[in-house]
Amino acid sequence: MVDVKSLQKQELEFWENLKKSGEEIDLRYARDLPDDTPEFILRMLAQFEREVAKFSFGGCSGLVLDAGCGNGNILVRAMSQTCSKKPIKERIRYVGLDFSRNMLGMAALRSKDASFAQGCVNHLPFKDETFDRVVSSGVITCLPTVQDAMLSLAEFYRVLKPGGILVVDFFNQQSHFTWVRRTLFKEAINPPEYISPSSFKSQLEDAGFKLLTFRGFDYKPYQGYLFMSRWRSLVDPCFIQERFSSFVEARVVPKIPGISRFGYRIYVKCVK
Ligand SMILES: C[S@@+](CC[C@H](N)C(=O)[O-])C[C@H]1O[C@@H](n2cnc3c(N)ncnc32)[C@H](O)[C@@H]1O
Repeated sequence: MVDVKSLQKQELEFWENLKKSGEEIDLRYARDLPDDTPEFILRMLAQFEREVAKFSFGGCSGLVLDAGCGNGNILVRAMSQTCSKKPIKERIRYVGLDFSRNMLGMAALRSKDASFAQGCVNHLPFKDETFDRVVSSGVITCLPTVQDAMLSLAEFYRVLKPGGILVVDFFNQQSHFTWVRRTLFKEAINPPEYISPSSFKSQLEDAGFKLLTFRGFDYKPYQGYLFMSRWRSLVDPCFIQERFSSFVEARVVPKIPGISRFGYRIYVKCVK
């Protein structure tokens, strides 16, 4: 029997103990990557965050909740972007929520204009119909059970105004990358961390949302983190997979949007 409380505690401990990163965005700290992570990996992650910020915050105005804001990486990327020729930071009022004080502290250092609250995504400390948009990036995948994921979707629905937008992501159980991991590396690829696009759509619909659009990211062909391997100086398999993934994202996805559903990580935009 899974002990949900202790799983949540482990998760919280992980984020509480993540290295402090100061005011600079340092992806190595934000994602707990080794100090010798190659530049091309950091470039790839930075590009991913910029694109996620554009997808998540593009076109929004009013009061926005970033549920599970972490150290504010997406916030900082979003605030430096413009939408309809107006800086996003002038269009929105940003509220960041996280259950880790450590992560909130890092996020707060980065933006003097934003507000922050400590709390859990499946029990949000806000009144019904408060927000124009809720963005939750990389958080549902951290929750210990499917019930927690469903609860948090219900909470996002509750705090959104009618017609409000939710942007949320999941790890695609049916991407080629997860298939490789399941079949070759015998990894457990199960909900809530990994879920199929159709099951995630059903969960969103059960919570009351209507799907608007989605965007896949990360088309890496095989197991990541090989850059830590001893073959690295010879030929870096991770470099090849980074080039492949960037190529698909930049050249193929815009022309054939359906390819998005093969992304390892899928961001979904839906409406209340
Ligand atoms: C992978 S990070 C994502 C951070 C940020 N949203 C991003 O995309 O860069 C996950 C964050 O969710 C937070 N988190 C995990 N479970 C949570 C929960 N149940 N309630 C609130 N925050 C949670 C963690 O503390 C961490 O900061």
